[in-house]
Amino acid sequence: MKTEIIDVKKFFDSGIKKAARLIDDGELVAFPTETVYGLGANGLDAIATKKIFEVKGRPQDNPLILHISDLDMLKKLTIDSLERAMPAIKAFWPGPLTIIFNKSKIIPNEVTAGLSTVAIRFPSNEIARALIREAKVPIAAPSANISGRPSPTDAKTCYEDLAGKINLILDGGNTNYGVESTVLDLTTKLPTIYRPGGITLEMLKKIYPNAVLDKAILSAKEKPKSPGQKYKHYAPKAEMFLVLGDSDRKKFLIEKYLAENKDKKIGLMLTEELFEKSDFNGNIKILGSVSDEVKIASNIFRFLREFDEEKMDVILCEGVEEKNLGTAIMNRLRKSSSNKILGE
Ligand code: TXA
Ligand code: MG
Repeated sequence: MKTEIIDVKKFFDSGIKKAARLIDDGELVAFPTETVYGLGANGLDAIATKKIFEVKGRPQDNPLILHISDLDMLKKLTIDSLERAMPAIKAFWPGPLTIIFNKSKIIPNEVTAGLSTVAIRFPSNEIARALIREAKVPIAAPSANISGRPSPTDAKTCYEDLAGKINLILDGGNTNYGVESTVLDLTTKLPTIYRPGGITLEMLKKIYPNAVLDKAILSAKEKPKSPGQKYKHYAPKAEMFLVLGDSDRKKFLIEKYLAENKDKKIGLMLTEELFEKSDFNGNIKILGSVSDEVKIASNIFRFLREFDEEKMDVILCEGVEEKNLGTAIMNRLRKSSSNKILGE
């Protein structure tokens, strides 16, 4: 199968129409969202959604998110009254927040992996919304990578993973957030975050003061409630270590590792602040300033992929403070590195 890439910024209408036709035919299309690129299929078509699992090599028990373009679509997908969710919907939709509801009967079991709940997201990206509107169905879409690899934040990366396996990639340039949406369960007693993302716990607490992070986010010993969180994720090919502590300790740890491993090709992912304080030489990528978490989040998956292309043996990545968007950044970095901390 030949995989076509359409630059939707140039060919918006024809690109969206072609993609919607493929969705209607039960085929898969990769498309941009504001977080990462998605690998989409008709979310009401069991056979089409099955193809997503095959193409990604995704475990069958990991449910998909349904993407919608208006609230009328939502009402058909859940049996819940929207009273509890309405404050979140008003504050954060469209945007990088996925909400878990009790599902309605029209959703195939393949989408929810047999669960009685369904994850729904209203993306803010114009291309994603136009595609859903044109297809006139909710679009089931996980991130458009082979399972286990870092999520794609541009069309080229989707192509690397999916060339020859799908018909079409809509190229809408780089995504804005670079980490996937926050997954929030509103069917539980306490509003519970299963996956931290662009909409932070601190932001959600303003409308749900009793919102909590699922314990599994904070401790590897807890069993996650969200199936996807138990799998190895976002892993680069290189061995990866997180570098934690104050800036003097981080500088010391990196210098020591570089000195002891001169035979290895080592990639460094550093904040601007640590970069300026140090004089490491070698393969350095600047994540952004510690005060600009959005920039850091948007760079992590891309840098991991670039270091793979540059064939690093080892990646040392500086950690950030685990609050606000830093919670999502550290969640992804801990998974990418299998929680290996330099010096521990
Ligand atoms: O930003 C995003 O959310 C991207 C873009 C493409 O929209 N999508 C994405 O999908 O990250 P995926 O499949 O990579 O992650 C979906 C996560 C998984 O961790 C999955 O286990 C969880 O949502 N999930 C889906 N349905 C669920 C449910 N009913 N209960 C608990 N967790 C659920
Ligand atoms: Mg994913």
